[in-house]
Amino acid sequence: MATKNDTYSVFTPSQPAELTFVERDEVNKQLVDAIRTPGKQLVIYGYSGSGKTTLLNNKLNQLYSGVIESQCNKSTTIDQLKLEAFDLLDKYYKTEMSTQKSFEISSSLKSLYSEIKASSKIQIGDRLERIVPIQLTDSRLAELIGEAESCWKIEDFHKVEKEHKQRLSQIMKVFMDASRKYKTTKIITIGAVGTGKEVVEYDSEMKERVSEIYIPLMSVDELEDIITKGEKLLNVEFPKDIKNKIVVYSNGLGSICHQLCLSMCTNNYIYETADEKYTFSKTDLELAINDYLSQNSATLKSTFDKAIKSSRKSKYGTTEILQAIINLKKEEVNSHEILDELRDKYDSKYPSSTLTTYLNQLITSERDEVLRINKDSNTYYFSNPFQKAYFELSFRNKSRTKSIGFNKLSADEILAFIQAKKEIEAELEDYDFD
Ligand SMILES: Nc1ncnc2c1ncn2[C@@H]1O[C@H](COP(=O)(O)OP(=O)(O)O)[C@@H](O)[C@H]1O
Ligand SMILES: [Mg+2]
Repeated sequence: MATKNDTYSVFTPSQPAELTFVERDEVNKQLVDAIRTPGKQLVIYGYSGSGKTTLLNNKLNQLYSGVIESQCNKSTTIDQLKLEAFDLLDKYYKTEMSTQKSFEISSSLKSLYSEIKASSKIQIGDRLERIVPIQLTDSRLAELIGEAESCWKIEDFHKVEKEHKQRLSQIMKVFMDASRKYKTTKIITIGAVGTGKEVVEYDSEMKERVSEIYIPLMSVDELEDIITKGEKLLNVEFPKDIKNKIVVYSNGLGSICHQLCLSMCTNNYIYETADEKYTFSKTDLELAINDYLSQNSATLKSTFDKAIKSSRKSKYGTTEILQAIINLKKEEVNSHEILDELRDKYDSKYPSSTLTTYLNQLITSERDEVLRINKDSNTYYFSNPFQKAYFELSFRNKSRTKSIGFNKLSADEILAFIQAKKEIEAELEDYDFD
């Protein structure tokens, strides 16, 4: 009998994909070459949800024996990162460990590890605190990671403060040097931003030895591949027109694609590979979209708030800009069109520099990446079509009630989304799938 797959392991809206992993041909060679090149450090960047973590996890699994994984937030310091990485090496340096790996770590290095470990704990009053002991230099850390035949992956590095970014670039230099002895050792930093420079501040002399790799949003073909892989794994069928719609709603984001497919399965009690092939209907998709909207109403609201937030001091804000983009009723708009609309409807002297400043903000994570820029045509669009519908609805309600600042959505209003989504579907007509 064929193996059964668990539906939640197939469609993974909030986890890196494994079973449905689709190769990213556009960047695969560049990424694999950079990973394989001794001494080459990596800076991976791209929008949040573009598939950075998934791609890296799958590639590192294929190419590496071990990965030391760190995760950053705003207050993360280099000392914390070093200590964490050091702690994660524990399993390789346990003295009693009978290693089944192909490599053997010398007992002298193992005892050095325990020594460093002991001196990283200091007693302050009745508390035990951690510090980076002087023995744990950057090059010692590189050596310890090197002996464990591992690489060091640091997620969300764009979030840390500037001084720590500069410190990491110094550590990268040390790792480059260590690669003469340890071929595999390297640092891989990942950041959800528009440029590599926003992830790590390294100097120009390192340029040749750092690979900056941009992970684009998922293409129509890649999203279709996710669905097709899911179909085979679960013995279900998404007819072509439904597949196309899921791809359009996903707008380059794998998580929306996984979420819609997952809902369609679970709404039909398909929790594992179906015994008899199940074919989805249009209604299944409708219901999945409703699920998506109600499950994500809090996120949609919080992104809305972040996007329209403004300081009392400034005369202009982002609200008028987002409103203008919606008024233009086009998939993508350029800044001239937005400026014309603002001057026409809002303020005939609207400064173009203000617009530029705000547009630059609206594409950053500080504003939840509510807009994206298409660099080829210099046009802007909403990153998530559901978010766009949310804005339309909130703006419409606001002008009706005239209560500025009131934008909480009720359950009824969520239902009104379903109306708004019909407008998105109307845009399907213009969409080129082949
Ligand atoms: N190559 C891929 N194949 C299948 N699903 C993917 C792929 N890349 C991303 N996904 C899915 O897309 C979503 C976002 O991916 P993730 O790797 O977390 O993005 P990022 O790290 O860039 O924010 C997840 O639901 C993941 O399962
Ligand atoms: Mg990620």
